[in-house]
Amino acid sequence: MTATVESSKAEEGKRARIETFDDILPYIGEAGRYQWLLFILLLPFTVVYAFLYFTQFFLTLTPEEHWCTVPELEGWNLTDHQKIALSVPMANIEELKIEGATPFSRCLMYDVNFTQLLQSNVTVADPSWTTTKCQHGWTYNYTNIPYASIAAELDWVCEKTYLSSAAQSAFFAGSIVGGFIFGYIADHYGRIPALVSCNAVGFFASISTVFANSFWSFTLCRFIVGTAFDNCFNILFIVVIEYVGPKYRTLIANLSFGIYFAVASSILPWIAYWIADWRILSVVTAAPLAFAFIGPWIVPESARWYITRGKTDKAIEMLKKFERVNKKTVKPEIYEEFKESCNTVIKDQSKNNYTVLDLFKKPRLARITVMLTIYWLIMIIVFDGHVWNMKLLDPDVFLSFSLAALTELPAAIILAVLLDRWGRRWMSFLSLVLCALFSFVAIATPAGGPTVIMAIFARLGVNIAANIGFQYAAEMLPTVVRAQGVSLIHIIGYFAHIIGPYIIYLADIAPELPLLVLGLLSLFTAFLTLFLPETVDQDLPESLQEGNDFGKEQSFWWIPCISRSPEKKKAYRKKLGTTNAGFNPGSLRAIDSTRL
Ligand SMILES: *[C@@H]1O[C@H](CO)[C@@H](O)[C@H](O)[C@H]1NC(C)=O
Ligand SMILES: *[C@@H]1O[C@H](CO)[C@@H](O)[C@H](O)[C@H]1NC(C)=O
Ligand SMILES: *[C@@H]1O[C@H](CO)[C@@H](O)[C@H](O)[C@H]1NC(C)=O
Repeated sequence: MTATVESSKAEEGKRARIETFDDILPYIGEAGRYQWLLFILLLPFTVVYAFLYFTQFFLTLTPEEHWCTVPELEGWNLTDHQKIALSVPMANIEELKIEGATPFSRCLMYDVNFTQLLQSNVTVADPSWTTTKCQHGWTYNYTNIPYASIAAELDWVCEKTYLSSAAQSAFFAGSIVGGFIFGYIADHYGRIPALVSCNAVGFFASISTVFANSFWSFTLCRFIVGTAFDNCFNILFIVVIEYVGPKYRTLIANLSFGIYFAVASSILPWIAYWIADWRILSVVTAAPLAFAFIGPWIVPESARWYITRGKTDKAIEMLKKFERVNKKTVKPEIYEEFKESCNTVIKDQSKNNYTVLDLFKKPRLARITVMLTIYWLIMIIVFDGHVWNMKLLDPDVFLSFSLAALTELPAAIILAVLLDRWGRRWMSFLSLVLCALFSFVAIATPAGGPTVIMAIFARLGVNIAANIGFQYAAEMLPTVVRAQGVSLIHIIGYFAHIIGPYIIYLADIAPELPLLVLGLLSLFTAFLTLFLPETVDQDLPESLQEGNDFGKEQSFWWIPCISRSPEKKKAYRKKLGTTNAGFNPGSLRAIDSTRL
């Protein structure tokens, strides 16, 4: 409705010249039928994103309660409790301190002749017997986690626990490689070929995970699945966002990411629980990837991409598709004018030969870039740390994972309401301080339920901060190097994903260490953000010099919701026509949803 009114207004009398891609959108409809169709199509792809990100957590989940298998005890009609009483020593002080610890040792057994003992009616162990490491594998208590994951099948426990994390790191290492491969395809062959090939690779690799029967085959499969991570969703997300009018971009982006992602990642644990088989889970979670195969018939190729490749006619073809589906009529001279400005843009573009190194040529801009990178890096480590830490906080890992994932929803709402009032700086400061506080409180609360609740609040904090980080960089870096800068930061972020899964091994040194480290990292970043300039209500920087001088005149204590007037500069933002520069992408990786 709104779109109709606007376009007719635009057609009356003195209409604005068409200088950018955004100027033509009102004519074809800014949020018409086609855009809403695409918005619905984002659902399966957001599900893909959430599933790819988190499925491996459930593929490698092992019950906290496991103990050495002793084949000699079979055939004596003993219950598990009786077997443990006879063959497994008590946990030592170190083992007892770990979250979710069992009263008995998980990695040791007595080294005695059980046949002989049972024949002489001994049923309880004597602590003076010599102990040994598990010799014949492990037995698991599948009451809470009702299936044997690959980690349980292959006994990735005790000194082999790290294999689960190594496989997770391989997945994220894959995403770095995939970022380059599919980024290249997207830039050279188009967004649709990249979208389809990326999802196809993820689909077939997920299916072949089923045949994995060793660490290396599993890790190889997950590495290949990892190449699809991010781009499988990201490419479509950017195409859709590009076609939506600037006014609706933040809305569509928040709706799709906030709601779809929260819902998808909070139902995943229940899917895993009900299926209760890691192989079937791997296939089922691959199913939404198959949506990409119908993509070419529904998803329009990016008109912006056609323009950057100099294929203006193709771009106009795409726009005409929107015109038809949205039931609009656009005068031919509008397309003519659009074509002319496209051709000038292409000429201008060849002049732009800035590289990512230009970010480091001016001292203040270099400092800002480094701080933004550190912010993003730590944000991912803290986020992933909290995700994998759920494994340690088990009483009911499915419920706690689901609730923690659901915090994405309030995070989206809080951001929508407060971000533009409170500003990026103080808002990320507050959410990170809260994250740190709840992490510390979680250490002090009794193990089990209360710790999990505190950890979930901490997760809400990091969710908010991560969402801010997502657009902070896009707003602060000057236009000429924005795309390169944002992708640099995000590529470095991928490396943080590789480290994230290991945070939980700090628990081997001291059980409270993972949360303590996550808390301290959040606290550090909270204070770091105070030294970044505020971007809310500011002219966004265009040249390198503007980027270098950005926010120099801002006072440290400026809090937008309290003192609005002196530092407010809305002019440039109006020109950009959006509240979020991140959604004004010049190239594919200008925004990247490594965002969590
Ligand atoms: C096994 O033990 C249970 C109870 O301890 C008993 O009811 C059952 O009859 C026993 N079965 C055999 C085959 O001994
Ligand atoms: C397995 O876990 C359930 C639920 O926590 C518990 O009731 C049961 O005693 C456990 N079994 C063993 C053998 O520890
Ligand atoms: C354990 O004792 C039984 C009976 O005394 C004997 O037959 C068996 O060989 C012994 N096993 C080992 C591993 O020594």
